[in-house]
Amino acid sequence: MSSSLSIKTKLVLDFLITLFFVVVMSTALTGLAVHEWLGIVILVMIIVHMLLSWQWIASITMRLFTGLPGITRTSYILDFLLFAAMIIAIYSGLMISRVAIPALGLNGLTPSFMWRGLHSLSSNSLLLFTGLHLALSWNWIVKTIRKYVLTPFFIKNKSTPAENSSSTK
Ligand code: HEM
Repeated sequence: MSSSLSIKTKLVLDFLITLFFVVVMSTALTGLAVHEWLGIVILVMIIVHMLLSWQWIASITMRLFTGLPGITRTSYILDFLLFAAMIIAIYSGLMISRVAIPALGLNGLTPSFMWRGLHSLSSNSLLLFTGLHLALSWNWIVKTIRKYVLTPFFIKNKSTPAENSSSTK
């Protein structure tokens, strides 16, 4: 995959993860079935997101205790907390599932107070970590949207009248 294609894939994927996350957090609006299946879809998307960022993760992990800039180390620690909270939210969600797990024929789980509490705590922590993650990635987000969405869109629009006039010659 070319690097520009991989950045575009990342941008679309990150947008979808953020959108799905907002939807998953609105259980009262979506109902439990959408909530549970979308929660499972997010798990798959997070794995793809990590695979696409694997080079960054591997290189920072190897240099974590050497002279890394403070902001990079902070980002890494925050991303780790975000990932851990996401895994706990999804795992505890599976433990209290009333739709997806029974639909898959796995009925042996008894929802407990502990798993409910953990689900609630991890999903609320996710809100905080996601906000911080977006704030720390803001430069990348703005730069990438400008380069891959806004610039191509405006160039295309600017060239349209010229193309139109040349096509009438
Ligand atoms: C990114 C993943 C997820 C997030 C952020 C998330 C978040 C939430 C939130 C905010 C609530 C509502 C209130 C609360 O109990 O605090 C909730 C409830 C619930 N979630 Fe999730 N969830 C996720 C994934 C899942 C998954 C994968 C499942 C199951 C397959 C699941 C099953 C449930 C169930 C059964 C409830 C109702 C709990 C009850 O009635 O006490 N969730 N979730």
